[in-house]
Amino acid sequence: MKTPELTELLNDVKARFASDATGHDYAHTLRVYKSALSLQATEGGDLEVITLASLLHDVDDYKFFKGDNYAQTWLNSHHIPQEVQQKVVKIIAEISFMGSDTKPASTLEGKIVQDADRLDALGAIGIARAFAYGGAKGRVMFDPAIPPVLGMNEKEYKAAEGTTINHFYEKLFLLQDLMNTEEGKRLAKARTDFMKRYLEEFYLEWEEKDLQ
Ligand code: ADP
Ligand code: NI
Repeated sequence: MKTPELTELLNDVKARFASDATGHDYAHTLRVYKSALSLQATEGGDLEVITLASLLHDVDDYKFFKGDNYAQTWLNSHHIPQEVQQKVVKIIAEISFMGSDTKPASTLEGKIVQDADRLDALGAIGIARAFAYGGAKGRVMFDPAIPPVLGMNEKEYKAAEGTTINHFYEKLFLLQDLMNTEEGKRLAKARTDFMKRYLEEFYLEWEEKDLQ
């Protein structure tokens, strides 16, 4: 990929996510891109495919956009070769967590971008993103009377409207066992351990004041 094209893509993605307050902002996409590049350094994989897929991975996300096919249109209008386009579109289609229907990406490049995206759902930034998303969607932060629902399939997961703390158990804590690469697994475990320590503090503070 040529440098002017990369600069244009970065600017286009920045515009697409301008004013996002759900944790799917430009900074998220940039972190996924940079994590994907560092995973590529050890795992290998086609750099152009990884660059395009990581930078375009959220531009058509079902949670925010209504099918204007932004990625496909961008790739076409920038004359990206057909076989590269197909690989990128496939990675984006396979990237998301879908409850018990989640599958590992089917290509090396997809596995790398999927790991990079999952890493950004974890750790201190992952916590911030979860609460940002919950707030933007009007979700309750925490309610001890509503237990997490485990084992949801894709349809149930997409329809779920549980609390943000429950999202930790319904998705975020499952990610470390779904990582594709060794480095991804190592980082995911460290970030998950931190989130579990965070929740211990959260529950302590919650219980300090008897709210019943
Ligand atoms: P995916 O495509 O797997 O959903 P994204 O890159 O779109 O991954 O990011 C998902 C992030 O959005 C989650 O990691 C979390 O921070 C946030 N999120 C999604 N669903 C919820 C939810 N129900 N409650 C809180 N946060 C959520
Ligand atoms: Ni993402």
